[in-house]
Amino acid sequence: MKIYVSMDSAAKALGADDLADALMAEISTRGMDAQVIRTGSRGMIWLEPLVEIDRGQGREAFGPVAPGDIAALLDGDLPGHGPTEDIAFFAQQTRLTFARCGVIDPLDLDDYTAHGGLTGLRRALDMSGAQIVAEVTASGLRGRGGAGFPTGIKWNTVLGAQASQKYIVCNADEGDSGTFADRMIMEGDPFCLIEGMAIAGLGVGATRGYVYLRSEYPDAIMVMQRAVAIARAAGVLGADVLDSGRAFDMEIRVGAGAYVCGEETSLLNSLEGKRGVVRAKPPVPALEGFFGKPTVVNNVISLATIPVIFEKGADYYAGFGLGRSKGTIPIQIAGNVAHGGLFETAFGMPLGTLIDDIAGGTATGRPVKAVQIGGPLGAYFARAKFDTPFGYEEFDGQGGLIGHAGIVVFDDSADMLGMARFAMEFCAIESCGKCTPCRIGAVRGVETLDRIARGDGAAVAILTDLSETMKDGSLCALGGFTPYPVMSALTQFPDDFAVAKEAAE
Ligand SMILES: Cc1cc2nc3c(=O)[nH]c(=O)nc-3n(C[C@H](O)[C@H](O)[C@H](O)COP(=O)(O)O)c2cc1C
Ligand code: SF4
Repeated sequence: MKIYVSMDSAAKALGADDLADALMAEISTRGMDAQVIRTGSRGMIWLEPLVEIDRGQGREAFGPVAPGDIAALLDGDLPGHGPTEDIAFFAQQTRLTFARCGVIDPLDLDDYTAHGGLTGLRRALDMSGAQIVAEVTASGLRGRGGAGFPTGIKWNTVLGAQASQKYIVCNADEGDSGTFADRMIMEGDPFCLIEGMAIAGLGVGATRGYVYLRSEYPDAIMVMQRAVAIARAAGVLGADVLDSGRAFDMEIRVGAGAYVCGEETSLLNSLEGKRGVVRAKPPVPALEGFFGKPTVVNNVISLATIPVIFEKGADYYAGFGLGRSKGTIPIQIAGNVAHGGLFETAFGMPLGTLIDDIAGGTATGRPVKAVQIGGPLGAYFARAKFDTPFGYEEFDGQGGLIGHAGIVVFDDSADMLGMARFAMEFCAIESCGKCTPCRIGAVRGVETLDRIARGDGAAVAILTDLSETMKDGSLCALGGFTPYPVMSALTQFPDDFAVAKEAAE
């Protein structure tokens, strides 16, 4: 009998470590022939700690399991959810990037290769840099970190740059509210990110890579560091990648914790040991990035999606999706929801389906009032916009953004004036201070929202004007996008801004 328990930090927070220890103790007391294997998470967080039991017929799911349930579980008397992959939340997914997450032992390289791992890298080793970049371009992959920029175009710029040294930098700062896909894949399938970075290195001619990983993710840091050491010892990384004669090596760097250090130029400053202040562009990092050298900066999910593109082919990947939003997107459902977790699906699913059907509405059972998509800089969507399909252009057309694909759900008790104030306050606290519209504007924004809360109707026009200035005049998207949550709250929930409603009438 094989028993699988997640070692993902969300599962651990819900008691997975104690549960695994208690399971092993009970197995040994009973003298049973059973093995407990720690995996990543299947992404169904409301079922954690999830236990999967394979008695030779495939994995059956039980959860949440408490230590007191162990006797019944091992006796076969605990009611379960049936085969894990038949659970509706899971069965409705298209898992390409997350195919192995929750399935394999994250630090077992043999388990990784037995599930398709390194197939993509081996294929890439037979290709020229230009062919590798062309494959990524053909896949239609766009950056999953926020801006949705085509990955192939970025790689092509780095490929074409002449330099003595080029770099691959993985952005694992994952600062957006309600997001955890980067953490989950690093903890659950770290070799996938390593493989993706190695392919990127071969493609653009970079021999060194760095993962800039936030300090708030101690488990991901530990797993990634161990995975890099294992990959190096196995010859996946180093001077002679898989005996090809080509070099690529990488290391993990830990960021001290600032939202703005997720912005790529601020990240590069931080990685160089400087203060995390945004750099003016141009030059773009693809031409002058880490220590002034051509650098690919890509999000974890962008890079972790590269292996499956090379394993199955660009056409296969591009066959999923909607319009210019190709492939799949790992959506993170959080906030006040019944079924929170990671849901990977082809682009195109309507927002309302995700919230009402997949996530099962709110945890409180009250009506959904708003959802914020794309982190703290993302717009709020009211139910009137729930038929918007998940796609970059489709969200843009509704005044929103997908960002890192985090959805945070609020029920009808949410105070949207308070949420607008929170967005401005967040910007004021996290501003790097380089440009005036953001540094000063966000502070004035908080004051202006406080005036509106006190019933000062004249402040509504000031807020609108200030938002325009921040949008047009900020150097980066922290100041430039903060108006999105603010103005979407104001325009879609006028009842929460009583004076705004009066001013409009
Ligand atoms: C304030 C701010 C915070 C950001 N935080 C992140 C982050 O945590 N992770 C990330 O991948 N991208 C983040 N980005 C986007 C990056 O600047 C950059 O676009 C991204 O790393 C590029 O990778 P991609 O093309 O693979 O998405 C942030 C941008 C801004 C303006
Ligand atoms: S918008 Fe804000 S975070 Fe971005 S450069 Fe200006 S001050 Fe810095």
